[in-house]
Amino acid sequence: MSNPLTEAKYTKRVITTHPKQDADAYSVSEFTQTQCFTTPLTTTGLVTDLQTHWQYYKQVLIQLPTTDTQILHNGKGKVTLKTHNRSNSKLHTKIDKKYLVPRTAPFLHRLGITTSQGEVKKSMYGKYRQINKFVEILSTTFNQGDLSDLKLYDFGCGKGYLTMAIHHYLRAQGHDGIETIGIDLKESVIESNRAIVAESGLDNLTFTYSDINQIEMDRGSVLIALHACDIATDIALHKGIKSQAKYIIASPCCHKQVRKSMSHHVITQPITQHGILLERQAEILTDTIRCLLLESAGYRTDIFEFVSTEHTSKNLMIRAVYTGNKKDNTERIALLKSIFTLSEPQYLEQLLMDR
Ligand SMILES: C[S@@+](CC[C@H](N)C(=O)[O-])C[C@H]1O[C@@H](n2cnc3c(N)ncnc32)[C@H](O)[C@@H]1O
Repeated sequence: MSNPLTEAKYTKRVITTHPKQDADAYSVSEFTQTQCFTTPLTTTGLVTDLQTHWQYYKQVLIQLPTTDTQILHNGKGKVTLKTHNRSNSKLHTKIDKKYLVPRTAPFLHRLGITTSQGEVKKSMYGKYRQINKFVEILSTTFNQGDLSDLKLYDFGCGKGYLTMAIHHYLRAQGHDGIETIGIDLKESVIESNRAIVAESGLDNLTFTYSDINQIEMDRGSVLIALHACDIATDIALHKGIKSQAKYIIASPCCHKQVRKSMSHHVITQPITQHGILLERQAEILTDTIRCLLLESAGYRTDIFEFVSTEHTSKNLMIRAVYTGNKKDNTERIALLKSIFTLSEPQYLEQLLMDR
């Protein structure tokens, strides 16, 4: 739903189907100028949603695999309906133009994202979009001058979707000196990733079975840590800081350590008494302290939403670029900790104290 009338709360609303999910077969993403909020929808919820909101938008576009239907509404009661056919080949051309990792890349097929004909499987569009969004973020972060001989470490790489995607992209851009290492605790996943690398002809990409605690990074590399669980993100950030990584890209997962050490305080109790708000507050507090610590170590940081919550609710990304300009954030961190009465230091802080 786009082209909002004055009564509309959002600039755009996008409803997506998730045919593989039983309970919430749909989700709705509501866009403001700066944000996107995504919530699941049941089939009954979908009907109510459409009946409630369609009238506030001048255009409602319904895209099916082979047809587009437009409901055009002038805001004064006149409604026009237009339907036209769309060929699948047109859909794929659109996808190829928009995405940095081509759907024909062999590793995508081995990972089960595309068919043997190089078409993205319907159920895998979300994953394909996520991979491309990640590659886009990294490609706009890196300074071209740094790319001739860079080493990338992906800590807690899991099935290696993103490790393979960024490596494939950079190599395809002609950066032959790039070396990428994916590290994970799960042996079976590492074995499977190695087999995919061998079958897909991805040079200079290796997968290592190890605890990230055991890894020593080369100085001035790139650190990626996506959805590494709880304090694994802190261990990864610490490794990055210690080795003065040029770029650190982390998408934090759960924030248990800070949540458990937050006690109710008279000022914050109205927030922390609610389980979900306590969880979100712990998330905000943890990632704020992480950014402040990165700044103290000479990094410029920003934090933003990486993909829509339609794919994952863990969608914040911390991006840190080494500048050497160290800020003294000691007092700001101490103040935050006292407001939220943390019984122990945030884990990255502890690691930095111990070093
Ligand atoms: C949620 S998965 C994310 C996988 C991948 N980064 C992604 O975003 O698709 C988290 C991964 O981190 C790994 N992990 C957690 N703690 C780790 C540690 N200390 N050392 C190595 N891997 C770890 C887990 O085995 C798991 O595969």
